[in-house]
Amino acid sequence: MINFILNNKTISTDSPLGITLLDFIRKEEHLTGTKEGCREGDCGACTILIGDLIDNKVKYKSANSCLMPLGDVDGKHVVTIEGINQDELTPVQEALVDEGGTQCGFCTPGFVVSLTGYFLTHEAINPIEAIDSMNGNICRCTGYAGIKRAAIKSTSLFNGLKRISTEDLVNKKFLPDYFLEIPKRLIELQKLRDKSKSGNGLPDKRVLVSGGTDLYVQKWESLIDEDLFFISDVNELKGISIEDNRIKIGGATTVSEIENSPILQQYFPNLKNDLRLFGSIPIRNRATIGGNIVNASPIGDLTNILLALNSTLHLTNGKSKREIFLKDFYKGYKTLDKLEDEIIAAVSFRIPRENSFFNFEKVSKRTYLDIASVNSSMYLELSDGIIVEVHISAGGVAPIPLYLARTREFLLNKNISDEVISDAAEIATSEISPISDARGSAEYKTLLLRQLILAHFIKLFPELIDIGELV
Ligand SMILES: Cc1cc2nc3c(=O)[nH]c(=O)nc-3n(C[C@H](O)[C@H](O)[C@H](O)COP(=O)(O)OP(=O)(O)OC[C@H]3O[C@@H](n4cnc5c(N)ncnc54)[C@H](O)[C@@H]3O)c2cc1C
Ligand code: FES
Ligand code: FES
Repeated sequence: MINFILNNKTISTDSPLGITLLDFIRKEEHLTGTKEGCREGDCGACTILIGDLIDNKVKYKSANSCLMPLGDVDGKHVVTIEGINQDELTPVQEALVDEGGTQCGFCTPGFVVSLTGYFLTHEAINPIEAIDSMNGNICRCTGYAGIKRAAIKSTSLFNGLKRISTEDLVNKKFLPDYFLEIPKRLIELQKLRDKSKSGNGLPDKRVLVSGGTDLYVQKWESLIDEDLFFISDVNELKGISIEDNRIKIGGATTVSEIENSPILQQYFPNLKNDLRLFGSIPIRNRATIGGNIVNASPIGDLTNILLALNSTLHLTNGKSKREIFLKDFYKGYKTLDKLEDEIIAAVSFRIPRENSFFNFEKVSKRTYLDIASVNSSMYLELSDGIIVEVHISAGGVAPIPLYLARTREFLLNKNISDEVISDAAEIATSEISPISDARGSAEYKTLLLRQLILAHFIKLFPELIDIGELV
């Protein structure tokens, strides 16, 4: 039995915890404003907001209800379009109408939820971010100009206000007034939470679900009646900290949490921008680092970045713990050095040294909301112009996320020069075994990797390189 608040209604249900929230909302609660489009996290028609109580404040985030198991909303507030609707159109809805931002209307609830969620999750409002908040929503018939104008118009209602609160949103009719009571109601509800669902011991033989953004794309039907173990709420598996000169990221930490971590922003100023290439906001709000690693996709973006940071995995089965380099974790296509009962508790890597450099490159068919054809990351340390440490990864060019060991050996103790970089790119292409598929031919991927190796150096050391000689 789980308990949660759906819009303004408290729900207690013993429906299977593995069904998608989308199906529960539409089929059991008959709230059909949330639409079923792709069922793969790609279209945003099913977007909802999830409010969780953190330090007695409710923090909302958008999510794709088609990829979210019902069991994950225990003790939370779920907001669908019906929970935003009021007697009259809200300012967001009115702006969409006035600016010609809707035609058939199928996508519109998703856009309204994402944009309203933006106001609910940001104290300082800016139009560019408001537009970006809809990056997981696709409209097939209206075109985006009117939708963008509507976003800008909605933000103009807060001109001059430095910080906006839930009270401001209720006063301006962006939200119904029941939102003001949600914190108190969630405090009561969380007392009822069933700890055996997660956080109480380790999964044993249960199927482990984290963000669900891989599992629910692959096999949502077979998960309905599985005994699931939900780790997205296990606090010990979340968070980013510094321990013994290493940065440690809990296995259930989401991509959004990584993007917004002050620690990571300090040491990797471009990372937030790099991660904008990872799915959409609702996907990043749910997708976790542990899921990215265990999914073992050869083109996983976090895995690619972590390989170049020479990361260590911290595995546990509750009784014993062990550590292993990420580069040694992949034994073959989707074959891992991991026992059935082990989970990834955390990932750690050394804090970048002074005079170190990091770069991530990803080429995909579409710039945003697409998986990579080929990706690559490089971490490099210089001392007196000499490369004293370097790690390079390559994705999409082998059955596993690849660590380029021979390229590293070649680069160590060398000066950066056009010749060295060209030779390194050649060695990198000799380490790979790409196959031709929908993402490109083997020849194309080989060429891409070569260019990405060059791109690392061109971006990081433009002053040391004659680009004309290289490309
Ligand atoms: C629309 C869309 C866009 C996407 N875009 C990208 C992209 O740009 N880049 C990219 O890299 N990926 C992308 N993905 C893939 C996916 O979001 C990521 O791989 C994500 O990190 C998976 O994490 P999760 O928590 O959702 O995993 P889940 O689906 O919950 O789990 C995946 C697997 O990992 C296991 N698992 C999860 N956590 C742990 C743990 N801590 N210990 C042990 N096992 C664990 C699960 O049992 C399961 O086998 C996208 C997916 C979708 C649907
Ligand atoms: S139905 Fe398309 S993202 Fe969920
Ligand atoms: S209004 Fe028809 S799909 Fe967007």
